[in-house]
Amino acid sequence: MNVLVLNGPNLNLLGKREPDIYGHETLADIENALRHRAFNEGVEIDFFQTNHEGAMLDRIHDARARVDAIIINPAAWSHTSVALLDALKAFEGKVVEVHLSNIHTRESFRHHSYISSRADGVIAGLGSFGYLAALDFLTR
Ligand code: DQA
Repeated sequence: MNVLVLNGPNLNLLGKREPDIYGHETLADIENALRHRAFNEGVEIDFFQTNHEGAMLDRIHDARARVDAIIINPAAWSHTSVALLDALKAFEGKVVEVHLSNIHTRESFRHHSYISSRADGVIAGLGSFGYLAALDFLTR
């Protein structure tokens, strides 16, 4: 199995950005934990973070027919991007949407995610463990 982990805008600032909401771990910490778990499971894993929506769309197009599953934290694009939804609809594999925070207990504009209608599963509010839970689900 081949898994691609995608992180959207501002997630490069994890650990520094609103740590009371998003925690003290950096994105590198999260990626290292995932790399370790993937290695133990014999899963190939790749990572991509961008603050540029077009770059994210291109990376998803590139994953078509090459990647079995995507774990994505679309960050703010969850709430705004039909283009990201459409790109994921053009991807044939499994998609798990992850949010560090519980978007449903926050501001109302975060309650709706365009991505959720395409996702096979949605995890919110489990902090960085959400990414590992997503990987566990995919490797079951
Ligand atoms: C987030 C939640 C989004 O509402 C927010 O814009 C983010 C991060 C999360 O992981 O909790 O940037 O996706």
